[in-house]
Amino acid sequence: MMMGRLTVGALLVGLAATENSVFQINVPASLRKPGGYSHKASLFGRPSYASTTQRLYYAGDGGGDGTLCTFDTTKTYPTPFILMVDRGDCTFVTKARNAQQMGATALVVADNLCVCGSACSPQAGCQYTEPVLADDGSGADIVIPAVMLPKQEADDIVNYFRCGKLPIQGRPQTCAWSPDWSQDATVQASLEYTVPNPDDRVEWELWTTSIDGASLDFLTAFKDTVLQLGTHQHFAPMMYTYNGSQYGCDVKQTGSDMCGNLCTNGGLYCAPDPDGSQDEGISGADVVAENLRRACLWDLVGGDDVSDKSQVGVGKVWWDYVSEFTRLCSTAETFADDSCRATAMKNAGADKQAVDTCVEGSGGLEKGRNDVLDQAVEALDRENIVYVPECIVNGVVHYGSVDPPNILASICQGFPIQDRPPVCDCASDPRYDDCVANNGAAPAASGGSSSSKEPVVEHDGMPWYGVLMLVVSVVVVMLLAGLAYWKRTQRQMRDQVRGILAEYMPMEDLGEALNPMQTEPDAAPVFSVNA
Ligand SMILES: *[C@@H]1O[C@H](CO)[C@@H](O)[C@H](O)[C@H]1NC(C)=O
Repeated sequence: MMMGRLTVGALLVGLAATENSVFQINVPASLRKPGGYSHKASLFGRPSYASTTQRLYYAGDGGGDGTLCTFDTTKTYPTPFILMVDRGDCTFVTKARNAQQMGATALVVADNLCVCGSACSPQAGCQYTEPVLADDGSGADIVIPAVMLPKQEADDIVNYFRCGKLPIQGRPQTCAWSPDWSQDATVQASLEYTVPNPDDRVEWELWTTSIDGASLDFLTAFKDTVLQLGTHQHFAPMMYTYNGSQYGCDVKQTGSDMCGNLCTNGGLYCAPDPDGSQDEGISGADVVAENLRRACLWDLVGGDDVSDKSQVGVGKVWWDYVSEFTRLCSTAETFADDSCRATAMKNAGADKQAVDTCVEGSGGLEKGRNDVLDQAVEALDRENIVYVPECIVNGVVHYGSVDPPNILASICQGFPIQDRPPVCDCASDPRYDDCVANNGAAPAASGGSSSSKEPVVEHDGMPWYGVLMLVVSVVVVMLLAGLAYWKRTQRQMRDQVRGILAEYMPMEDLGEALNPMQTEPDAAPVFSVNA
């Protein structure tokens, strides 16, 4: 039971190192590389799970401004654009800030050093590995994403800006730098952030506590989405509980009770006091206790060892319990009340006795260690969680707000485009809840269908798929009905006309007499259906 939680955690940490962005040159086609350019993405800036495809400008290698260490007000580029600059002279954050102020949607840094031993023509020394584009501590204002290309990759693009063509193999670079050509060179680049490792099941976890308001709103609102995604997703709730020993709360260690009712188990496991009052209301210890119960319930109804495989990583009962608990037991009087909890569990169909057994069996809340809480505390340390709620999808931290459409968009990026579950369409539907209730199908009698939506996952076209299919089938059915009706009308008319004319005209003229009637309704339906 406990192993399951551990395995998921370890897997997520393993995945966290993967690059989750693709940088590609689309124009000129000669600069395209299969799978995009290898690169390092910045640890600052706030990439959304979206892509940007823009004209690329190169700030140049000629003057001091090539590195963009100073904000050059004389140089302007028509927006929108991605800016490429050389590495060196100042921090990545400074370059990104200057690029952002110039209006760039993304920054590309061309490395000026080769990695030692790589197939790259060195100009200076070499470095052992590509550096990480780290925050210098002041990067909170940077919103644009930044990537750095290794020198050998960047050279192809720089040479194109310099010479207007790829260098001929073995020939020394002799092209003189020309800012004019650089400005005129049409290069289009795209930078796309995706959740890595697309497969038919997306693993994700939410760091949450049993009292955090933002988490609870999200959990209540996201329940139906999880149920629609079913086993295409694999969820793990991570209950934010911190290690009391690291804050001097451990009574055994310090000999005094420094932390009071923030903690359980003699100061080993703690949670922030939600109402800030030591003596009244909900205490940190109450939150730890509820965190433990939720972790236990998850293992029972959604963990990897649950016998009903349709519930592994889904845990319908857990979501129901969290919703019910939030609805019934969120006040200071009811939060720690056993009978309120009993009602919430009963409403959700949860086995309260099994949860209580797990709470005691893992070590209880009085003294000594608790296995389940130890795991929570270790995971918090390992994953370096700073904010609650925080969501990690396929091992990558979700940027942006934790709300149902955003999280759904993140999860859906983890599926191969052709295999996205239908509910993924809802990420960009303004009537999110209706859409989820219909599992991504457009609800009947929806005037605007889903066309007036925010482009959250719009760039790949998939959200339109269901709508398009529906529209096409409706049109086909209407055309067929129209065609049948028109044929019937025509036959009736022909019969009538035939009857009237029969006495006055020879039979062979009938066709010509009927033709004018035929042309008008003919064109539209017949040719559309066959096209
Ligand atoms: C909590 O922190 C203490 C002190 O740093 C450490 O010895 C202990 O292993 C930690 N507990 C867990 C469960 O990680």
